[in-house]
Amino acid sequence: MRQYNALINNELIDNGQWLEIMNPATLAVAGKVSALSAEDINKAFAVARSSQQQWEEVSLLDRIAVIKKFRDLIDKNKEEIAQVMSEEIAKNLKESLAEVVRTIEIIDYTFEEAKRMEPLALTGEGMGAKNKLGVFSRVAKGVVLAISPFNYPFNLALAKIIPALVMGNTVVFKPATAGSLVGTYMSKLVIEAGLPKGIFNIVTGRGREIGDIITSNPEIDMISFTGSVGIGNQIRKMGSTTDLVLELGGKDPAIVLDDLNLEKYADEIINGAYGYSGQRCTAVKRVLVNNEIADKLVPILKSKVEALSVGMPSENTFITPVIDEKSADFIQGLIDDAKEKGATIVTGDKREKNLMWPTLIDNVTVDMKVAWEEPFGPVLPVIRIDSYDEMIKIANESQFGLQASVFCQDISKAILTAKKIKTGTVNINSRPQRGPDSFPFLGIKDSGEGVQGIRESLLSMTRYQGMIINY
Ligand code: NAP
Ligand code: G3P
Repeated sequence: MRQYNALINNELIDNGQWLEIMNPATLAVAGKVSALSAEDINKAFAVARSSQQQWEEVSLLDRIAVIKKFRDLIDKNKEEIAQVMSEEIAKNLKESLAEVVRTIEIIDYTFEEAKRMEPLALTGEGMGAKNKLGVFSRVAKGVVLAISPFNYPFNLALAKIIPALVMGNTVVFKPATAGSLVGTYMSKLVIEAGLPKGIFNIVTGRGREIGDIITSNPEIDMISFTGSVGIGNQIRKMGSTTDLVLELGGKDPAIVLDDLNLEKYADEIINGAYGYSGQRCTAVKRVLVNNEIADKLVPILKSKVEALSVGMPSENTFITPVIDEKSADFIQGLIDDAKEKGATIVTGDKREKNLMWPTLIDNVTVDMKVAWEEPFGPVLPVIRIDSYDEMIKIANESQFGLQASVFCQDISKAILTAKKIKTGTVNINSRPQRGPDSFPFLGIKDSGEGVQGIRESLLSMTRYQGMIINY
């Protein structure tokens, strides 16, 4: 039985309280992690505060050298981390390992990007200033609270933690409960790597029990959160005076404007919609297409959906069980609502507990929940709209604004369409996706606030410190 400890001040916490983590594939216990008290959590923030100044005074290259030891231990243990992840969130082994490798690549790129965070030097002559030299450096904000979601428990944790630490902040990290085994696996690596005491603390417990205690701590200088809109809005209320980066939900549309490459479009849509069983914020969560093209596209989508392997993570199937039965019930509810209102189930609508067969629904109309809500599961609605203007209107009416895809071989028409779409990013002729990780990643409207991506994360966790020299 895997049993990992929370980490405070480089000490493994054992307060006798444990949280059982379920394996979504077997529905058995995958392991246990510490369940922390308010006192434990407050201590984590206290040591993060008390260690921050000294950590910031370490030179950038020396900070990188220390963190690289931690990075090298991740590389050494990547297969085991992937195994833990696969058991904990039912992500297939291949994708779990890919997540760990991608995280190492993010860490390496972050090291290099941090070296380019050069100060800004200004004279003010353009404003008539004389004999002034302004030097504006990026310095640490202080104590960063990093909160990650279940679906990328390693990648979306360290994509926050590493830029924070590299720039001289200290961190209190709260992993998702489903993701806490992966999160606390790092506790021993932190100690083994010899990171200074108190700079990287890992606190565990159910968000609904400790979330407010964590987000209301007065030591917090910045919160980087990835998760649902509901929790994100709760944090907005709690952290009123704190800098926030929130990456929240999505309802990414795939807008198909021609039939000139339907096989390619369908491959992108299928991978975008059903990757990790649709449990990705950037998943394709609706297809907007006119009737003429839909008549050709839907049969192609059907055959590709039915070719997707379904099973257990250990078998490396494409579709694996969703995170828990509560999620499966919600997803099934959207499918049932669409059926009741007259939609066509093209394929799928089959379930064994939280293993859900990939479902494709045609003739979805705007009165159906699945047209607007985020399933976070393997279900894709096709909404047939003959008017181009109506298609853009429906795309933009969503409460979400994370990403979108436009499929069109006429690049001018694709660009002009992309410019009309109200999202953080529009992908032309590819599925929505966060990568490459060096690109800015952002959501607007209910999809988030602030920007992720390697350079943007370095900027969001630092502030200017200006010096003006008069001579
Ligand atoms: P979630 O339920 O919102 O949980 C996210 C994190 O918040 C978890 O660590 C959770 O801990 C914690 N939390 C829960 N209640 C809290 C509170 N009151 N205060 C502070 N933290 C609290 O989201 P999820 O189910 O893990 O992930 C799925 C959602 O995240 C989807 O909506 C998806 O679209 C979104 N997401 C967005 C992105 C993006 O980059 N935009 C990426 C991935 C996921 P517990 O697990 O202990 O509750
Ligand atoms: O939901 C996780 C979000 O960050 C998407 O990542 O790389 O699967 O597009 P990706």
